[in-house]
Amino acid sequence: MSGGGDGGPAVETEGLVKVFGTNRAVDGVDLWIPAGTVYGVLGPNGAGKTTTVKVLATLLRPDGGRARVFGRDVVTDADAVRGRVSLTGQYASVDEDLTGTENLVLLARLLGHSRAASRDRAARLLAAFGLSEAAGRQVKTYSGGMRRRIDIAASLLNTPDLLFLDEPTTGLDPRSRNQVWDIVRAVVEQGTTVLLTTQYLDEADRLASRIAVIDHGRVIAEGTKGELKASVGAGSVHVRLRDPARRAEAERVLAGALHTSVQLDADPVALTATVDGRGTERGAAQQAARALAELSRAGIAVDDFALGQPSLDEVFLALTERKGPPA
Ligand SMILES: Nc1ncnc2c1ncn2[C@@H]1O[C@H](COP(=O)(O)OP(=O)(O)OP(=O)(O)O)[C@@H](O)[C@H]1O
Ligand SMILES: [Mg+2]
Repeated sequence: MSGGGDGGPAVETEGLVKVFGTNRAVDGVDLWIPAGTVYGVLGPNGAGKTTTVKVLATLLRPDGGRARVFGRDVVTDADAVRGRVSLTGQYASVDEDLTGTENLVLLARLLGHSRAASRDRAARLLAAFGLSEAAGRQVKTYSGGMRRRIDIAASLLNTPDLLFLDEPTTGLDPRSRNQVWDIVRAVVEQGTTVLLTTQYLDEADRLASRIAVIDHGRVIAEGTKGELKASVGAGSVHVRLRDPARRAEAERVLAGALHTSVQLDADPVALTATVDGRGTERGAAQQAARALAELSRAGIAVDDFALGQPSLDEVFLALTERKGPPA
């Protein structure tokens, strides 16, 4: 495994700040990203994900704090950093008027590969990404999923030690998302560290070993998926009522029994609540059973009652709720 090879973290930031005018887009971010893994940076629109990635990729200069990539400072040692990273941006960089092959050969030539090596590398990548048939077509005729795949292929012309994937699957259909996920897994198997930004909780859940949740330029939670879920509760209950008219009452009963706030789902008979269970699954099961008994005592008919692990969606809601509304 290459993975950077020096044993240290792939990325380390302390109090990183990037300001646009009066907007603190990145407002004191601390990150520690182990080499050789997929690290998820999760956050809503405008959270500061792309800005953080651009600072780490040396495309933007930070206004405060420090950032090191494989031990090299992104400001004072930017060339060394650039030699080891590659970025697939949210807004991609291939030329629409060129074919898939032409794009990759051109970019490989720009990276200093010989003509023959460039052709060879382009053909291999196009095949690996399922684009051989489309290789001779202009990129402007590609679907969104094909487009995203060629963007990622372009960022792999040199095998980077650290690959930034900025929302690689936004707007893709489920099948294309799966293809991109397979690519990410294959890239990590080759020893590359991947920093993946996403707004999709299930994506971070599937791919990343650790996740930082960012909001308003700050890390509001960080850890393994298990740790993040545990910080919010050991489980979550999903309840479906027979009668939507009883939902407000059911909300009060659940909130009282579980001592948490209850979410009203879009479905008018459904409610969701986290269960802390004092940190254990057994505790969560006991609390959930008690909540169900109280619903029954109140004479509220329940069609479906399930206890599961909280989803990252619920984690995110709980984390941002705790902080209160945005300033
Ligand atoms: N070049 C820029 N000039 C001024 N403001 C900027 C610039 N780039 C980003 N911002 C602002 O910084 C904040 C963070 O933006 P950023 O693009 O990092 O968010 P993001 O988490 O990537 O969001 P999204 O999920 O929508 O891509 C936003 O308020 C945005 O408007
Ligand atoms: Mg972005």
